[in-house]
Amino acid sequence: MPRIPVRLVTWEEIVEWSRGLAKRIEEQGYQPDVVIAIARGGFVPARLICDFLGVENLLSIQSQHWTEAAMKGERAVIKFKYTIDLRGMKALLVDDIVDTGDSMILAKEFIEQNWKPDVLKTAALQWISSVAKIKPDFYYIEVKEWVWFQYPWTRLEDTVQFIKRMLTEEARSGKTAWKIEEIKEKFKEWYGIMVEDQYFLKALEILISKGMLRVKDDTYYVVLK
Ligand code: ADE
Repeated sequence: MPRIPVRLVTWEEIVEWSRGLAKRIEEQGYQPDVVIAIARGGFVPARLICDFLGVENLLSIQSQHWTEAAMKGERAVIKFKYTIDLRGMKALLVDDIVDTGDSMILAKEFIEQNWKPDVLKTAALQWISSVAKIKPDFYYIEVKEWVWFQYPWTRLEDTVQFIKRMLTEEARSGKTAWKIEEIKEKFKEWYGIMVEDQYFLKALEILISKGMLRVKDDTYYVVLK
């Protein structure tokens, strides 16, 4: 069993799920005038939904909660509180996943109070029903047990954080020198997935540039701060 349950999501699945989500929205007779992506995770699904529903207007709001892979921040915040006028319009707020629901709840309240669309509905590719405080009006997949979905747009970011977390903890129990193959093996053990070499090598490079790792003669040394 991996330490943190992670499920790798492919670009193909994202297109398939977005198409499926758009179909549900269409079947329920909702045709938005404007799509609002929750940054950053909602960007790709929102853009695909615009394509599948034939929507030209695409906006974004940055409601942030999860600042690190599988580690949520204290509370969700709206990062850029600009105001626009959506009166007379039907809007669709889109995110990749509704996990705790905090980002979507906050974005929804902010938009209703400040942008004032006539109608605002919510949509997500995935909804973690066991933990979410809100059920989106439209979703494609109901997830029953919490998993970290490793979406293709955070592949590098997540890999950096996953390696960092794993090596820091392993260093605390005494192992500070690693061959690359050992890091890969441990990564598989911890997270139950593997990413392509380009991502893995780039993530190690980033950790070296941040001073968390040093490399000498093919061995990586963990620098504990
Ligand atoms: N963002 C918030 N919760 C998430 C999850 N469970 N998987 C991927 N991204 C997320």
